Amino acid sequence: MKEKLKQIRENFQKALREGAEQLSQLRVKYFGKNGVFTELMKNLKNLPPEERPAFGKEVNQVKAELEGALSEAEQAELRRKREQELSEDRLDVTLPGVGRKTGSLHPLTLVKNQVLDAFLGLGFEIYDGPEVEYDYYSFEALNIPKDHPARDMQDTFYITDNVLLRPHTSPAQIRAMQKKGVPIRILCPGKVFRADDDATHSPMFHQIEGLAVEKDISLADLKGVLEVFATTVFDKSTKVRFRPSFFPFTEPSVEVDVSCSMCHGKGCRLCKGTGWIEILGAGMVHRNVLKNCGVDPDAYRGFAFGLGIERVTMIKYGIPDMRLLFENDVRFLKQFI
Ligand code: PHE
Repeated sequence: MKEKLKQIRENFQKALREGAEQLSQLRVKYFGKNGVFTELMKNLKNLPPEERPAFGKEVNQVKAELEGALSEAEQAELRRKREQELSEDRLDVTLPGVGRKTGSLHPLTLVKNQVLDAFLGLGFEIYDGPEVEYDYYSFEALNIPKDHPARDMQDTFYITDNVLLRPHTSPAQIRAMQKKGVPIRILCPGKVFRADDDATHSPMFHQIEGLAVEKDISLADLKGVLEVFATTVFDKSTKVRFRPSFFPFTEPSVEVDVSCSMCHGKGCRLCKGTGWIEILGAGMVHRNVLKNCGVDPDAYRGFAFGLGIERVTMIKYGIPDMRLLFENDVRFLKQFI
């Protein structure tokens, strides 16, 4: 047995010296569960009982010595590997870095947020309506009976006789008043659809409808509110003017112009020489509309307005063709921050 222990020690040291086997293999072979030392201890029982303790002790000493040597060799190998990696893997600090591309909001989203911000500061809340809408909310309740010529103002996509893609966000006026009652101040941003397609019209575009119904409210309040909107979204010196117009759901109705932000009223290409740009439609909510929503038109009055986000965006940034907003050319879109 003693001879065997000596042999083991020599074999191990030789293997370690010559690097004939990988260190991990050596570890398994000698110190593993079925390794050389376990085997040796199992054979301890073949010795006469009085020799066992002393030999056992010796085996343990040799085992500790060899295991120590192995650990040292493992450490040395780790260090060597690390040094090799460091010397091969050089970092060139003069190389330009890899830039991260940051996205930006779509110009329509930017302008929508600016418009909403202007009105949210005045106590308006956002109200969402469906894009697939009933004829009743889109027209009838808005004082546009079937066969009324005013229906031609919107080239509507019909799904059935009674169901359509909403051609404006005005149905939200009706839904909001019927659901929440009055007084009320709401804004309804969303997609609308019309059978129209050219440089300034798209079959799908975005509107924001505004509605305020209160006991004491007048056309002057509407003008004040729209001035806040115009000076927030365009520049601080922007002026607002009303021109008489017609919508079946408002009386009186107005077309709202803002002073041209490019020439400040002198006349230029953007405002076609007039100094003014038509921006939205508005008016005082028609008595019939209030009645249709269960509101007493002798006790309450309201104003409403509807604006096209594409139109506001095109005017604000001088974009000549609406289709640019929908083509998703990143070179175009990333100009807006
Ligand atoms: N609904 C109208 C349109 O789409 C705009 C509008 C809304 C006009 C509210 C007056 C009041 O053309």
